[in-house]
Amino acid sequence: MKKLLIASNNRGKLVEILALLGDLGLELITPADLGLTIDVLEDGQTYAENAAKKAQAFLEASGLPTLADDSGLEVDALGGRPGLHSNRFGPQPSTEASRRRYLLEMLQDKPRPWTARFRALIAIAVPGRPMQFTEGVCEGEIIPEERGQGGFGYDPLFYLPALGKTMAELSLEEKNRLSHRARALMQARPILQALFEDWGES
Ligand code: IMP
Repeated sequence: MKKLLIASNNRGKLVEILALLGDLGLELITPADLGLTIDVLEDGQTYAENAAKKAQAFLEASGLPTLADDSGLEVDALGGRPGLHSNRFGPQPSTEASRRRYLLEMLQDKPRPWTARFRALIAIAVPGRPMQFTEGVCEGEIIPEERGQGGFGYDPLFYLPALGKTMAELSLEEKNRLSHRARALMQARPILQALFEDWGES
């Protein structure tokens, strides 16, 4: 079976990506499967730059076609922050819980609704081919109290008005129908299918 490395050490992301690409007929490999512990410095100016850096680093280390995700939360009342820095927001070292607390501290004096979006950039790196990118966005708002146990990161604070639920109140299947990552990966599927078909012929 043809192999695709999913270049992420983030457990929450991996669970979602493995479920979304599981039916493509590819063997999905994680860094842990290969004993790869690469920590890529995410110092790019855009999500695409960071996703490309991650995909390239893991491709070089493994020799395998690689898919990487760079994503973040953009809150309008904070001028789009934490954005690219979603994973290291507030005093460091931080945890997912401390970053959520810091986000609410930053927002407490701002008028609601605290409109926001999640954004995901997917980079697909294959030896000898130009890197390809897809993007997905999910609109919602930040609420002042956590709700739900599912998902990861900012999910308990990210409310979807149309559903009346936070991301953390959705099942994996529900989140994977509408999330930023799901939208980006839906566009990535035909790209992956075409790439791997070409490879079969060469
Ligand atoms: P990075 O892409 O590894 O730089 O990290 C993205 C960060 O954005 C995560 O650590 C989370 O804090 C946040 N994030 C991205 N996607 C999601 C999501 O689906 N739910 C909650 N938080 C997310």
